[in-house]
This record gives sequence, structure tokens and C-alpha cells, in this order.
Amino acid sequence: MRSMLITNIGELVTCVPGLGDGPLGIRRQAALVVDDRKVAWIGRAADAPPADARVDAGGGAVLPGFVDSHAHLVFAGDRAAEFAARMAGEAYTGGGIRTTVGATRAADDEQLRTNVARLRREALRQGTTTMEIKSGYGLTVADEARSLRIAREFSAETTFLGAHVVPAEYAGRTDDYVSLVCGPMLSAARSAGARWIDVFCEQGAFDADHSRAILTVGAAAGLGTRIHANQLTAGPGVRLAVELGAASADHCTHLTPADVDALAGSATVATLLPGAEFSTRSPYPPARALLDAGATVALATDCNPGSSYTTSMPFCVALAVREMAMTPAEAVLAATTGGAAALRRDDIGRLRLGSRADLAILDAPSYLHLAYRPGVPLISTVMLNGELV
Ligand code: NIG
Ligand code: FE
Repeated sequence: MRSMLITNIGELVTCVPGLGDGPLGIRRQAALVVDDRKVAWIGRAADAPPADARVDAGGGAVLPGFVDSHAHLVFAGDRAAEFAARMAGEAYTGGGIRTTVGATRAADDEQLRTNVARLRREALRQGTTTMEIKSGYGLTVADEARSLRIAREFSAETTFLGAHVVPAEYAGRTDDYVSLVCGPMLSAARSAGARWIDVFCEQGAFDADHSRAILTVGAAAGLGTRIHANQLTAGPGVRLAVELGAASADHCTHLTPADVDALAGSATVATLLPGAEFSTRSPYPPARALLDAGATVALATDCNPGSSYTTSMPFCVALAVREMAMTPAEAVLAATTGGAAALRRDDIGRLRLGSRADLAILDAPSYLHLAYRPGVPLISTVMLNGELV
């Protein structure tokens, strides 16, 4: 592969504190060389070594590509009418998940694949270079397996979410459905290449005992664990995530002080999904309390047709700054290294020697513009695994 020199960088945001100024490790008058799909050199532009090709950043900021560690892309249909009803005052309960399950089961593979491709492309244009993709709208052995196979065509970070809700045909038989999830569905998910297992731990979905049982067998089968935790109520999800050493507790909307302390004293990342609060008109998660207590925070989109139909990490950064009192630097770190931590990856979400060459060039001189100019298509160029896309 040809080496590439990136020059005329407004500011190089490494997301490695020691590599430059402040918490984002910002370097000015810097250049960067990519070789063999990795960051091969970072230094003063005046000292840049020769390379096969040159990319002019046009004075724009250069950041690591965003790591969106929570997305539900394998589905059919939309729920715009449900959104409109919410904006007219209805509450979000998660009940619409079953609507999407019906549409997803009825879709053929090509329709599902086309929809994932569309959303993945949309995210890439907005600087997302890594995107976790969950199943969870199939909820039969065959439909979960095909969801994961299709997800695997687009991402190495695929998550088995058979425990999204109890499907209608198992109504009143939650134990039987949990047995299915823990047995044949989990085996099929592994064969389909799932790397993670997730559970929606919530009233009306799965309680702590069922969630623990599912995640424990998933972990024993070699999958990493993550939980939809404390989204609608201050339930047991976060405590369970910490107890099990899950990589991430996602949503964290309704937290007790004990939940905040538990996350802060653990390696479990608190993944905040402000697109969901925006689209369900809910209170935002207590990001300030989590950060001040020392928890590792990630930001992700939660892209799905019900609670958060956005693929935009810049939108989530802007929400985190405006609505959750995160500083722009904290929000950018959460959208890059935070997401990487939630996926237990250290090769992405930062720009240092040896990092994967995943980066975004902004049509703006500073990362601050991500929050300062909300809703504006600021990403001018994206490099994915060493290639301009
Ligand atoms: O993360 N809460 C569970 N799952 C999704 C929503 C799914 C849906 O409404 O279709 C979420 O918000
Ligand atoms: Fe979700």
C-alpha cells in the first residue's frame, strides 16, 4: 500500500493526552504519515518524511474516526408515526420493538443488507470509522443468526441481542424464551460470528436474574458482555454490569448515587446515548456526575428505528455538550477513546504510532466546531483503515 502524508492540518487531535496539549493531546503545525494501514509518523510538518501521496487537510482539524459502540442497524421498516405520537405527548416504553421484529422477520436478506449498508454509509460520511452492530429484531434462532451474519459483513464488532424483549409468541413464558436464548440461539449467534452479548435489563424486558443467567452463559461461551442498563428506570442493570465485569453499561439514564460510584470504581464503561433522550423526550443521563466521579464515559448513537434514529456522532457530541454539561473535549474523547474502551480496543479511537489509520478531517479549523456548529456536515474527508473513502 502507498504511504500517505497528511499536511496543512489546522490542529491534530490525537486523543492521547501525552502527545500534545490538553486532554485531547492537540498538536499544531503537525503532519501525519499513514503507511500499511497504520499511523506511521507524527511530527512537525516541517520535518515530514517523504511519502507516496499527499493529502491536503485544507487547514481543517484532523481527529481519530469516531467509534460508535452501540447501534441496532439490522431491521426493516420505520416507526415515524410512533415518533410523532411521542412528540405529541406519548411516553416511550420499548413496546414498539415488537413492531420492528415483525417487519424484520418479514424482510428478505437483501432488504436487511441494503438497509445496513445505507446506515453504515451514512455514519461513515459523518466520521464513524468503527460501528458496533447488534441483532435483536429477529428473536428466533434463524432470524437472530441471519441478522448477525449480515451485521458481520459490515463490522467485526457484532453483538447478539436475542434478549431484547420476549417476543409475542413467548408471552407469559419468559423462562422458556430465556432457555432458547441461552441454548440454541446462543450457539447460532456464535456460529454467526458474534463477538458480544447484550441484554435489555428493564421492566417489561428482562429482570436481573434472567439478565445474569443470559450474560453468564454468553461469557462462558466466549462472548464479551454489555448491558442496556437503567434506560427507563433506576433498575439493577448498572449494578449487574459492574458485578459481571461487563465492558459497558449502556444508556445510564436513571442512576442512583450508588450506581455512579459503582461505575466509577470499575472497568465498566458508562456508554451514554443522548440521541435516545432527544428522540424520546427524556431527561439526559448524569454525565457530569459520572465524569466527576471518575467513570470512563463513551458516547454512541444507539441508532435504531424506535428510540434514536440517527447515525450521527457529531450530533451526539453536540447534545452531550449542550444538554449534558460535558466540555467539548470530554465529548470528543467519549466519542473516540471512550467508544474504543467500551469495545475493549486500543488500536482505534486515538492517533498515535501504530494506531489503525482511521481518521476524519473537518471542514473547520478546530474540533470545537463539532459542538459549535450543530447540524452542519463538517466532515470533509474520512480515512478508513488507511484508505480514503
Ligand atoms: O437501545 N431499549 C432497548 N433497545 C433500543 C430501542 C429499541 C426500539 O425501540 O426499537 C434502545 O433504545
Ligand atoms: Fe440500544
